Amino acid sequence: MKGDHSMNPLIISPSILSMDYAHVNEQLKELQESGAKWLHFDVMDGHFVPNLTFGPDILSGFRKAVDLFMDVHLMVEHPKQVAQWFLSAGADLITFHIEAMKDMEDCLALCDDIHAFGKQAGISVKPHTDVKPLLPYLDRFDLVLIMSVEPGFGGQSFMEDVLTKVKLLRKEMDKKQLSTRLQIDGGIHETTGKLAVEAGCDTLVAGSYVFKNGIKDAVETLLCLKK
Ligand code: DX5
Ligand code: ZN
Repeated sequence: MKGDHSMNPLIISPSILSMDYAHVNEQLKELQESGAKWLHFDVMDGHFVPNLTFGPDILSGFRKAVDLFMDVHLMVEHPKQVAQWFLSAGADLITFHIEAMKDMEDCLALCDDIHAFGKQAGISVKPHTDVKPLLPYLDRFDLVLIMSVEPGFGGQSFMEDVLTKVKLLRKEMDKKQLSTRLQIDGGIHETTGKLAVEAGCDTLVAGSYVFKNGIKDAVETLLCLKK
């Protein structure tokens, strides 16, 4: 997206994958009162990744309980179909994986479909996927998501090597004056989050760190990384 990226404030997107599902109401309330503006939904189908999570009903339910930006990360074999379900459920942003798509033309078509629905579109890469093929098309997306763990599970260790891709994307986005968000996901805590922000990320997904350290305090600590 065209615009002044330097205006992008740091956003924390807590991943509900690490929620304590025995206490959903309390945690949603605390999320709403925290500094997090987004909520990250890790949608897994047991095929694209070896784990299975939830469908669109969870999102439509959570939407009634909180007023947060619904950030949907699709880790599924058939993103076109699943994107429609989550758009209908009220997603604000759909991010799909380049590895699940046929080619770049296919990616751009899905991006256009999401935009036609009036919502934002993001594209994600796994830790070992090259981002260079994406460079000419950055202006078409609202967000690029760099995975800093192999997708599938929360609680894994941050892969520092992916910061090379973050720096490359940040340079390219700055050169083209794009406001496209640069998100990172996997193993984020105060130390790795700092490295990611310094490399150029403006959107941090955090699961275990947020839900195991007290939601409000953990979000506040991450937000302070940019100050
Ligand atoms: C992994 C998911 C992540 C995950 C992050 O496939 O995309 O969003 O929940 O969890 P943590 O922050 O615990 O690494
Ligand atoms: Zn995710």
